[in-house]
Amino acid sequence: MADTRKLFIKTYGCQMNVYDSERMAEALGASGYALTDRADDADMILLNTCHIREKAAEKVYSELGRLKPLKAANPDLKIGVAGCVAQAEGEEIMRRQPLVDLVVGPQTYHRLPAMEEAVRKGARAVDTDFPEEDKFEHLPEPPRAMRGPTAFLTVQEGCDKFCAFCVVPYTRGAEVSRPVARILTEARDLVARGVREITLLGQNVNAYHGAGDGGSWTLARLIRELARIDGLERIRFTTSHPNDMDDDLIAAHGDEPKLMPYLHLPVQSGSDRILKAMNRKHTAESYLRLIERLRNARPDLLLSGDFIVGFPGETDQDFEDTMTLVRQVGYGQAYSFKYSARPGTPAAERPCVPDDVSSERLHRLQALLTDQQRAAQVAMVGRDVNVLFEKQGRTAGQMTGKSDYLHAVHVTDPSVERGQIRRVRIIESNTNSLAGVLV
Ligand code: 5AD
Ligand code: SF4
Repeated sequence: MADTRKLFIKTYGCQMNVYDSERMAEALGASGYALTDRADDADMILLNTCHIREKAAEKVYSELGRLKPLKAANPDLKIGVAGCVAQAEGEEIMRRQPLVDLVVGPQTYHRLPAMEEAVRKGARAVDTDFPEEDKFEHLPEPPRAMRGPTAFLTVQEGCDKFCAFCVVPYTRGAEVSRPVARILTEARDLVARGVREITLLGQNVNAYHGAGDGGSWTLARLIRELARIDGLERIRFTTSHPNDMDDDLIAAHGDEPKLMPYLHLPVQSGSDRILKAMNRKHTAESYLRLIERLRNARPDLLLSGDFIVGFPGETDQDFEDTMTLVRQVGYGQAYSFKYSARPGTPAAERPCVPDDVSSERLHRLQALLTDQQRAAQVAMVGRDVNVLFEKQGRTAGQMTGKSDYLHAVHVTDPSVERGQIRRVRIIESNTNSLAGVLV
């Protein structure tokens, strides 16, 4: 083979895209590509896109526009769009942006090597199928290189919930769980290569029901099995739906020491009227009861959530109900978004809340969530926590990592090495991180 070609991947959106980008890099690695972190140095640029909100797709089109000079400077440069915008827009991307050579959806990227070959010969390739075969079974074996101490591992994809605002069931397709044996093999391999923390991913990860010994396994059972792997110290999972938190998964938060005390459990709204209109199939009250059960199992659980404001039909009172729920839960961290109408989803047909009203609500909600985040951080000061150190910090001799609660923590101490889990006393809370000293 000629010299190694260089691949630049830019990843948007959720952690599942981060995982997919890694796997795409591996797939193209088998075709002779090595990753570069410079777009202007690349022979192929892939944008791994997100379609969850309007601006995300627009960002892709403007990013593609910005690649024009690179293509002009290097006519051999190949440009591809992957991920959920690719899935949703398909051929439309080719029409809107002639410099794109390749469009590949999230379920077909195992076909990238063949697509790359076609593109090298001058074709323009689009593949947004939902294929029969499992892409993971058709990806090349990953290289056995060592890697950083944390990794994502997709165990489930797609969603059957059909929340009225969400494109995921259309872009990622129906819920599919990977078989237990494959996940365990992949996890053991990651650990053998230096990984100490694995975050299990799925659009609806707690709806996991993969084939295992004796039938279908739940996420809790999978977590308990993963916890038996020597050298794997921490397990996390995201994103969950309140209706799929079964008893065993709740219990695991209390009795499985490797399962970290952090849970991202989106509720979207605190108004039952809006939750119904969203097709969430739970109430504010049932969510609060669930949180109570989780906190009974693990009192120090740090909660995270997602919120949408300005959903069609949301009144001032509905929004106040969301603020009340947030005050009742007390989140350690959360994401909040202005509703964005997504074509093809049921809610897109409904009358919109005026933009200035949504903006004002988002502002108030974010102020409250920021206060709660700060309070949760300040509450850590003086406490001792475990930190898994991941990389060098911004100042000389500084190392940063994550606490069990997923707080970013930095320590300046020459004895700290990447990949170590060390006991740290938190001494200060900064805007988005905590400072600590070794205990
Ligand atoms: N508009 C705004 N936010 C959305 N989300 C999903 N779809 C939309 C939409 N159409 C948010 C939800 C979800 C998170 C990943 O993105 O809060 O939990
Ligand atoms: Fe979208 Fe709802 Fe499925 Fe989450 S549960 S991916 S918000 S449809």
